[in-house]
Amino acid sequence: MRLSTFLGLIATLAVAVDAKPLRRATKHVVHEEKPAARRNWFKTSRLHQSKILPVRIGLTQKNLDRAEEFIYGVSHPDSDSYGKHWSPEKVVDMFSPKQQSIDLVMEWLEAEGIQPGRAKLSSSKTWISLNATVAEVERLLKTQYHVYKHDTLGHHHVACDKYHVPDHLVDHIDLITPTVHFDQRLGHDRTNKKVPLSEDQDNELRKRMLQRRQIPEHGILGSPNSGFGPKQGATITNALVSLAECDQMITPACLRALYATPPGTLAASNNTLGIVEYTPQAFLQKDLDIFFEQFAPPLVGQAPIVNLVDNGVLQTENQSFNFNGESALDLEFAMALIYPQRATLYQVGDLVQGASFNNFLDSVDASYCTFEGGNSADPNVDSPYPSSVGCGGFAATKVISTSYGYNEADLGARYEQRQCNEYMKLGLMGVTTVYSSGDYGVAGNGGQCIDPLTLAFNNGTDGIFNPSFPGSCPYVTSVGATQILNGSSVRTPESACQDVIFSGGGFSNVFAMPDYQKSAVDAYFANSAPPYGAERFNNSRAVRGFPDVSANGANYLTAVNDKFSLSFGASASAPVFASLISLINEKRLAAGKGPVGFINPTLYANPQVLNDVRNGNNPGCGTDGFSAVEGWDPLTGLGTPNYPAMEALFLSLP
Ligand SMILES: *[C@@H]1O[C@H](CO)[C@@H](O)[C@H](O)[C@H]1NC(C)=O
Ligand SMILES: *[C@@H]1O[C@H](CO)[C@@H](O)[C@H](O)[C@H]1NC(C)=O
Ligand SMILES: *[C@@H]1O[C@H](CO)[C@@H](O)[C@H](O)[C@H]1NC(C)=O
Ligand SMILES: *[C@@H]1O[C@H](CO)[C@@H](O)[C@H](O)[C@H]1NC(C)=O
Ligand SMILES: *[C@@H]1O[C@H](CO)[C@@H](O)[C@H](O)[C@H]1NC(C)=O
Ligand SMILES: *[C@@H]1O[C@H](CO)[C@@H](O)[C@H](O)[C@H]1NC(C)=O
Repeated sequence: MRLSTFLGLIATLAVAVDAKPLRRATKHVVHEEKPAARRNWFKTSRLHQSKILPVRIGLTQKNLDRAEEFIYGVSHPDSDSYGKHWSPEKVVDMFSPKQQSIDLVMEWLEAEGIQPGRAKLSSSKTWISLNATVAEVERLLKTQYHVYKHDTLGHHHVACDKYHVPDHLVDHIDLITPTVHFDQRLGHDRTNKKVPLSEDQDNELRKRMLQRRQIPEHGILGSPNSGFGPKQGATITNALVSLAECDQMITPACLRALYATPPGTLAASNNTLGIVEYTPQAFLQKDLDIFFEQFAPPLVGQAPIVNLVDNGVLQTENQSFNFNGESALDLEFAMALIYPQRATLYQVGDLVQGASFNNFLDSVDASYCTFEGGNSADPNVDSPYPSSVGCGGFAATKVISTSYGYNEADLGARYEQRQCNEYMKLGLMGVTTVYSSGDYGVAGNGGQCIDPLTLAFNNGTDGIFNPSFPGSCPYVTSVGATQILNGSSVRTPESACQDVIFSGGGFSNVFAMPDYQKSAVDAYFANSAPPYGAERFNNSRAVRGFPDVSANGANYLTAVNDKFSLSFGASASAPVFASLISLINEKRLAAGKGPVGFINPTLYANPQVLNDVRNGNNPGCGTDGFSAVEGWDPLTGLGTPNYPAMEALFLSLP
């Protein structure tokens, strides 16, 4: 259903609220609570009892305990079934919830007065959806819904503080939305916005925000203040640079020289690189053309293939670095590096609500809806979010790069685990999911850290390190940022990025350490243990460390709003790394092989295909953060790509 219908909070439904008496005394337990960190959202009014909520109940899926085994089966270089990726049908069969889970949840709904027929099971069987009044949902979940308001930005959001389920259902339900998750874009529209800013004012504001580490707009992907986008540096009037100047300005030629990358080929014309952008972030063709004229003349006039997801729009109303910088950076460099291969842009979300990662996942994960139901599947059931082209409406490209992220503490563990498992499924189906690791060192978006007592975000002068998500999900490839030191050349080893931004990295508070990185992380602690303990990060050596790899993230000469300026951020590193993987896929396809899919197990087993980075830090939270050392480290991962070695390795695999 279109949430905007709900959004206006205009829908009302006269439903007789006749609670049937429960058949047995049921004990209810708290299932999820609003993350403590979200203290910048405060409660305003109760939501009216007659409003309609589009409820989605995420059922617990079976066989997830075997996820690592399955993913290694297709992606570990020692596996006999390396590269034998799964069909969407096999993914659905393997993970769809047990019938018992479906039955128990349906029984519960009926016992609570939801007539059979109102609750619908998605064809992937992983979600039960229903439209219910606030009164019904409040009774069902023993909760209260409020409109929350963001303390500094004034945005609204509909949520509850916590909710309950009967204790016999705890193991059958992953999560229920809309409830405590502040990335579900269920709010009023963005009223009370800041007054319009001129570009100069906008840049000035951004600079001040960086300086003062003002609280960014967590949970609003693509918004100009999300804290995750690239950071802008000096305006450049003469963009004609030589390789000798790569320490001052990064061009596609610098990246090719750094990573020994050849131009692309067109052996498999259907192989495109996926780049995800969240509205209102948008590219402007004239910016791409200014860039291409200089660095990739055959591309002048060429746009990416555009997939508009969830009513995605390429807005042109507001144009400034904050609205165009990320898209320009991602597309200009990726398109130049992979040419003549093409890029596919997934432009996600409308102007009113934007979108969350789940909307993107819904749109590309065919296993959500095309299996069994096929095209006749009710798109409203499978994808309750606004979607003209609904669930599974777009093919997933074989490599997908996203330079947006949350703090892990922004969202609940159950929510993140469920989403992370979707990246695992994409890996099983042969998709490489690449995310940037963040730009604030060991701190979170906007430089915030976590107060040890309240677990709320603080101003970043002290506190617990604040890892990013989805970079901390073990089934994505997380990319950190490096730089060429001033005075160094493309032949000198790079350092962790310390120019304008610090490479995001650290250890998860949610995800266990995947087996593939165990020896690398053990070696890190054995040889280079940082001088901090559990008061700063989970040093149990039992949790996921990130990033996995890195690539240059400083001084990108980007054409934005008709002129060249420098961009900084792991935002740049992710699409560059993804571009190289797409080039390798092209070679594999030309050799009659499949795409590489999930690459982490192969990379950790073959660290020699990456250039180890051993210099630099990623400060934050009043510390120097971690140090780049020999071997894997939590700021540059295994290192930057050595393209010829990486290509040879992946081509040697079946
Ligand atoms: C909920 O309501 C919307 C809008 O009326 C409708 O499109 C959708 O199919 C409904 N969903 C369910 C599960 O009934
Ligand atoms: C552009 O900015 C103005 C003023 O902040 C705002 O009202 C409008 O919604 C914005 N448009 C987009 C597409 O973000
Ligand atoms: C590209 O995809 C189309 C449609 O799926 C298919 O017919 C065609 O053979 C593909 N081309 C190549 C070169 O793989
Ligand atoms: C940050 O917070 C700490 C503790 O509340 C306070 O002492 C410090 O002055 C603050 N620093 C800034 C720059 O706001
Ligand atoms: C790089 O080094 C040169 C010479 O030492 C200096 O003039 C220049 O300001 C430095 N540039 C940056 C960006 O630090
Ligand atoms: C660190 O992670 C381990 C493994 O998940 C967990 O058992 C432990 O409680 C965590 N420690 C802290 C301080 O959160």
